Amino acid sequence: MSQRVTTNTVAKMKAAGDKITCLTAYDAGFAQVLDQAGIDAILIGDSLGMVVQGHESTLPVTLDDMCYHSRCVARGSQRALLIADLPFMSYQESPEQALRSAGALMKQGRAHMVKLEGGELMAPTVEFLVARGIPVCGHIGLTPQSVHQFGGYRVQGRDADGAEQLKVGALALQQAGAAMIVLEAIPRALARSVTESLTIPTIGIGAGPECDGQVLVLQDMLGIYGTPPKFTRDFTQGTSGIQAAVDAYLQAVKSGEFPASEHCYD
Ligand code: KIV
Repeated sequence: MSQRVTTNTVAKMKAAGDKITCLTAYDAGFAQVLDQAGIDAILIGDSLGMVVQGHESTLPVTLDDMCYHSRCVARGSQRALLIADLPFMSYQESPEQALRSAGALMKQGRAHMVKLEGGELMAPTVEFLVARGIPVCGHIGLTPQSVHQFGGYRVQGRDADGAEQLKVGALALQQAGAAMIVLEAIPRALARSVTESLTIPTIGIGAGPECDGQVLVLQDMLGIYGTPPKFTRDFTQGTSGIQAAVDAYLQAVKSGEFPASEHCYD
């Protein structure tokens, strides 16, 4: 078994210009497939509310759901960095609430890092968690827990104010001690500029190839969930099975071939 990927590993990968590969998983079986392919990070995303539980959004997902799926993934993984999502309303109330929830994800869910949505407003919470030994991944842009506020799943940061808010948010999260930031569904040029302004890695999903790494929802890249978003690719096309599709994804991200221009927003 090769050594576990840690927050230090991904920091070094950014510095060396090595692309960071990440996919979601929600159970031990798929975690093992991703791990054996050599993926750098597995995200136990609250997207499980949609692709596993069949809800219309991520909002109904509970902390117990996240702990359960995170624990399942942990049983199947020996190598990848495990990042678990803090679900809707498990951290927005106060830093103390976020600490209790993050603690549960790490103790019961065996996650190595927690992810939370939001920019500048969440910076004090990130600082509170990091000071208490919890590695945090930020998530800005199209933050799915805010779908009703956005009026749908819409690309963010297209106007000057929105772009500025995202830049300020990214810097505030870094300043607060976040170890990584997911950039979701934002214009490619904005993602490039945010990535260049940070010392911590950015992981893009619909944010273009200049991010330090890429993440996709597993069901999207296997072509087995609803209408695929513009930013994804069905990696089963032309491959001979799930392991081969995951290998193809890793290879495409590492070489910079994915995402291509048709997966990006202006
Ligand atoms: O929940 C999730 O899968 C996510 C990714 C879309 C980044 O947050």
